[in-house]
Amino acid sequence: MILVTGATGNIGSALLEELSAGGAGPLRAVTRDASRTVFPEGVEAVEGDLSDPDSLPAVLEGVRAVFLLPGLGPDAEFLGAARRAGVEHVVLVSSITVQTHPHLGPARRNLEVERLLRDSGMGWTVLRPTQFASNTLMWADAVRARETVEAPYADTALPTVHPADIAAVARVALTRPGHRGRTYAVTGPEPVSPRQQAAAIGAALGREVAFAEIGRAQARAPMAAAFGEEAADAVLDVIGGDPNEEIRQVRDTVLRVTGVPARAFREWARENAAAFR
Ligand SMILES: NC(=O)c1ccc[n+]([C@@H]2O[C@H](COP(=O)([O-])OP(=O)(O)OC[C@H]3O[C@@H](n4cnc5c(N)ncnc54)[C@H](OP(=O)(O)O)[C@@H]3O)[C@@H](O)[C@H]2O)c1
Repeated sequence: MILVTGATGNIGSALLEELSAGGAGPLRAVTRDASRTVFPEGVEAVEGDLSDPDSLPAVLEGVRAVFLLPGLGPDAEFLGAARRAGVEHVVLVSSITVQTHPHLGPARRNLEVERLLRDSGMGWTVLRPTQFASNTLMWADAVRARETVEAPYADTALPTVHPADIAAVARVALTRPGHRGRTYAVTGPEPVSPRQQAAAIGAALGREVAFAEIGRAQARAPMAAAFGEEAADAVLDVIGGDPNEEIRQVRDTVLRVTGVPARAFREWARENAAAFR
């Protein structure tokens, strides 16, 4: 049995489709509210809140491999419960910032979870993705209302990754031999700037989407209100305030692990155009 956490999210939903289509055997999806989502046929949906340790034994019963998003609850407790339940392999989503911006708080916390997993006694695979293409969904309201994207660091190009490509790497790591004890940096196939992303969304919609560059302070205020000041500053540093060569680097992990090239941002924009209409 493979357990998918974050099953209703960007990566988890794509992973369940991949695993289900590939005949990966029994699959379980954990969500806090099973009535909200229809999972692929054959997937067992289990209600659970990873911040509630009491829900873990039922979530983990009979599970041999886990796809894990960190920070949904106390990770040390989840990993301890997984080990006790007989889990043999955990594929963890960490972040590229662990290696590109290790001084930032969110990167330090991801590294801590990586260490907990490596020391857990279970098999492990760590995925360190770069920025997700789906982050641009935060522009959807502005595109619908004003046909304009307002964002900072307009021309800082980073190799944004399609969440389904992270899922594809996770699927291979979960179902094929040779990926335990490996740490994979996962990126898209080419650097793309916010201005280019807005243009790609416009192309997918068949109309022009304007781009208005804003300053860091203007961008920071709503982000700090939504995610806290530390997280807002960390994101802004990574996406343009303090970029470095390593965060700009395109990696061939998706192709090497899955045999299929990583998808460009414009493909994600075409698949998700409806969200901007
Ligand atoms: N966005 C980026 O650029 C980026 C870059 C690098 C790494 N990451 C990492 O990627 C991960 C996010 O992945 P994603 O975008 O696929 O997720 P997402 O779309 O944000 O979805 C979050 C998922 O977590 C589940 N969840 C939230 N709280 C939970 C709880 N207490 N118990 C059980 N499930 C809970 C939600 O399920 P329900 O609501 O159904 O319960 C949902 O499926 C994070 O760990 C983030 O640090 C993101």
